[in-house]
Amino acid sequence: MQPKTMTHAIRSQALNFIADPFIVGSDAAYEYISDALIVIENGKIKSFGSYDQIKPTLSDGVEIKTYKDALVLPGFIDTHIHYPQTQIIGAFGKQLIDWLNNYTFIAEQQFKNFDYAKTVANFFLDQCIKAGTTTVMSYCTVHPESVDAFFEAATEKKMRVIAGKVLMDRNAPGDLLDQSVKVGYDQSKALINKWHGKGRLSYAITPRFAPTSSHEQLESTGALWKEHPGTYMQSHVSENLGEIDWVKELFPNQKDYLDVYDHYGLLGNRAVYGHGVHLNEREWQRMYESGSSIAHCPTSNEFLGSGLFNFELAKKSGRHVKVGLATDIGAGTSFSQLQSMNESYKIAQLGGFALSSIHAFYLATKGAAESLDLQDKIGSIKAGMEADLLVLDLKSTASIDFRMGHCKNIEEALFIQMIMGDDRATRAVYVEGRLAFEKTNS
Ligand code: GUN
Ligand code: ZN
Repeated sequence: MQPKTMTHAIRSQALNFIADPFIVGSDAAYEYISDALIVIENGKIKSFGSYDQIKPTLSDGVEIKTYKDALVLPGFIDTHIHYPQTQIIGAFGKQLIDWLNNYTFIAEQQFKNFDYAKTVANFFLDQCIKAGTTTVMSYCTVHPESVDAFFEAATEKKMRVIAGKVLMDRNAPGDLLDQSVKVGYDQSKALINKWHGKGRLSYAITPRFAPTSSHEQLESTGALWKEHPGTYMQSHVSENLGEIDWVKELFPNQKDYLDVYDHYGLLGNRAVYGHGVHLNEREWQRMYESGSSIAHCPTSNEFLGSGLFNFELAKKSGRHVKVGLATDIGAGTSFSQLQSMNESYKIAQLGGFALSSIHAFYLATKGAAESLDLQDKIGSIKAGMEADLLVLDLKSTASIDFRMGHCKNIEEALFIQMIMGDDRATRAVYVEGRLAFEKTNS
């Protein structure tokens, strides 16, 4: 028989965000505790503070696991990813539309087979955990089986995830299209009823992007979202210049790309749009007013030559748009959000914006949670939050170890990790308080 209350604790350095560094500046945005104790009870954080302060409150016999040369963070959150593209990471050639036609739309056809989808979903989620990512917002494919497989795999791993069936009814191979607008609507509705709010799962209504949905499908998608408050909306916007021209041709009556989604009622809190590389000022203003979020996908934008995300515009004073960091696997090239931060820093540099390590880690933790409206559940180390935690090995390679010997403070330590680190820096991962991954010393 298991005891009713399961309590354990982690002792290490810890870093947690308390405010948005894009608003308050880096220094006021975080708390760093050089000797911290995090107490976990029944999957949630019970208390967090300095070891000296928290230890006397612990009952006798509570196990304390100590991690040296490590830093505990909230588990990373990936706000835009495609699990069915795991097998096409690093597929060579050309830009978005060719890449979709030559690789993506071929790979995704296999996901009508539940067993295949489940195998990929398991592998994918294991890779996420190994990279320190405890929550993802993922696309599935057009096939309901791909959604069942993903949510089943996430349930078995006890992960908080958001996902949904892709909706598309034009401009893709026949096997990837909804048989009709009504079939796409009905299948999505059935999946919402089956999965949304079950355990740690949330459903995202998922029109792939404007070019692959008819006007009628976008209309029915808006209606479906309205009928199911609390569900999410996810799509792509303004990723690539050729794509933007195409949207102009397909929707000549709309002001710009974002206006297409606005027209069909697809903006609002819990609407998460991938990329937003080329949004204009009017579109940024609408993103802000509507409470919609952008998933910033740096490795993908570089890989597909899409362009440079503009932090100055996204975080313009007085109308900060919610932004979460994302890998966008399989156009993205690494499961590691440390690598997303690395590339995001370089993109910001090329645009004249100095992205600090505090900005970058915020975008993958509390900032990402806010962009998914999950800030009350994940993304921070605080009493009452779900205990999804990443223990980062601060000396994961010989060169990082050497470099850390010349490091002045925590901000610099984080910067070294995000520029030089990857999934080898994952020492341990806790999902809902349970140890889900631990690095072996091989
Ligand atoms: N736009 C529409 N579909 C996709 C996709 O699968 N990946 C990326 N990067 N952009 C898209
Ligand atoms: Zn995408």
